[in-house]
Amino acid sequence: MEKFETYHHDVLVIGSGGAGLRAAIEASSLGVKVAVVCRSLLGKAHTVMAEGGVAAALSNVDDRDNWKVHFSDTMRGGQYLNNWRMAELHAKEAPDRVRELEAWGAVFDRTADGRILQRNFGGHKYPRLAHVGDRTGLEMIRTLQDHGIHQGIDIYQEYTIVSLLKDGDGVVGAFGYDREKGLFKVFQAKAVIIATGGMGRIYKISSNSWDCTGGGISLAYHAGAELIDMEFVQFHPTGMVWPPSVRGLLITEGVRGEGGVLRNSNGRRFMFDDIPENYKGQTSMDEEEGWRYTQGDKNAKRPPELLTRDHVARCIRREIKEGRGSPHGGVFLDIAWIKEKIPNAAEHIKRKLPSMYHQFKELAGVDITKEPMEVGPTTHYIMGGVRVDADTQMTTTPGLFAAGECAAGLHGANRLGGNSLSDLLVFGKRAGEFAAKFAKENKGGIIHDSQLEEIAAWALAPFERDASHEGVNPFQIQSNLQDMMQELVGIVRTEAELTDAIERLQGLKVRADHSAVGGNRGYNPGWHTAIELKHMLTIAEAIAIAARERKESRGGHFREDFPDKADDFGKMNISIKKGAHGEMVVQHVPKTKVRDDLQQIIEEMK
Ligand code: FUM
Repeated sequence: MEKFETYHHDVLVIGSGGAGLRAAIEASSLGVKVAVVCRSLLGKAHTVMAEGGVAAALSNVDDRDNWKVHFSDTMRGGQYLNNWRMAELHAKEAPDRVRELEAWGAVFDRTADGRILQRNFGGHKYPRLAHVGDRTGLEMIRTLQDHGIHQGIDIYQEYTIVSLLKDGDGVVGAFGYDREKGLFKVFQAKAVIIATGGMGRIYKISSNSWDCTGGGISLAYHAGAELIDMEFVQFHPTGMVWPPSVRGLLITEGVRGEGGVLRNSNGRRFMFDDIPENYKGQTSMDEEEGWRYTQGDKNAKRPPELLTRDHVARCIRREIKEGRGSPHGGVFLDIAWIKEKIPNAAEHIKRKLPSMYHQFKELAGVDITKEPMEVGPTTHYIMGGVRVDADTQMTTTPGLFAAGECAAGLHGANRLGGNSLSDLLVFGKRAGEFAAKFAKENKGGIIHDSQLEEIAAWALAPFERDASHEGVNPFQIQSNLQDMMQELVGIVRTEAELTDAIERLQGLKVRADHSAVGGNRGYNPGWHTAIELKHMLTIAEAIAIAARERKESRGGHFREDFPDKADDFGKMNISIKKGAHGEMVVQHVPKTKVRDDLQQIIEEMK
């Protein structure tokens, strides 16, 4: 038997994005021994791709804003399927988390009187997104790293976790390998926090980085934790569509927040053509008024481009499907038009949206200060994930915590832009705090050699198989999965397509069980993908099953065969758990009644 090097910590954090770093900082500040394990190098987390800002009711730009409005916007955006306690904690605590980040050195853009500047984003009633140009996530990660690095946290870079380790019902560590040599490692811990982000890479078109494969959600599921809301996938309305090599790359909603408008091939602002009932009173039908809103006029109503993402993405899809799209299969997003409104517009655009300017100039040869961008929907975020306790972030499996995108509840059926960065700060901190508490109160468990040997044998099996035919190539299987998810489990779904997807997934699982790789264990991406297929297929199946189960349309989940909301489905979340024989067990979990004072806020804000 290979001898496995073992590391001992009180709290193990898997993932080094915003949620993972914030959790590690908090746990470490409470005096426990903390490790962070990440697949890539520190600083290369997907959080750096978050562009437009972090949502927090600081009320620096509009003093009518406060936590109650933020709470109510989040609930409405999530179509009231949100965990209301999480939405309350999030809205109340986000301002402190942002101010704390500033105190730790984050350099936000400023108002004229020197406070943190906030911009408009879809579904937020007032300008609420604290930002650093269009590189907010990058600044957040830089700040958290700088702060965390001095706290004595052990960092394991380029390590992949293959499985969580259990003793009885509880999680007591994780088993993985270092990517450089491919050697197996054991992380023993009293508490484990999953902070691994999302799953966009199971789709063909995605804004997510290569390592967003749903790994952490799947690790938790296979360790017995419950998943909820997996049917709710967010397709961000604006990803790049051209050139093909960068298809899906995010174009921040900040472009629309700064006055950018969407047009079809006839030059029409098609977003005026379909305003959802519950946003009618707040949406302007007048181009001039919409522009004034983006420039901070408190008496103006929002332009329809700043409706929620699920709606904007479907409108764009409609224009493309009905033949009014752009040459490369998108629609047009135009910020250059603001030269009609302000002097020095080109300089203004470059200052407000520096990454967008460079991204288009260098990758597509388009100068966004002079010409429109071609944009289309891109898989961006999963609202579902591991079910957690709202206050502590503990999953339904003892000793296992989750925070950030891989945890579910806050966003309900649809997330508002900017709420992800505040989510990972608020709940990263809470996960760190309560995991540290759990570690102090519990002894930890025993890791049995047989469990390690079984996982190691499974992980090494692809090397033993015949890699000479294409059907067992892990990259080929992933590519087939991405095509299938894009085609059958995308923005618009039907029963027949979802059933087809679930059947095809069984075939892909068989192929994954026969996946084969060559070479050795050091820096072997084929091997890595072969292991990862288990997670990708688990997540894909959970999404397809939950999507077939929810026979209505709500938020990020749109069923062509059930295009309306159904009251019954508005009262429950769909949960998925691993059954005794490895099957997915689906349940309808009734929602708890919203606390009276919070319900009153919702009613008042309506
Ligand atoms: O459009 C954006 O900048 C994305 C932000 C988010 O998803 O929160």
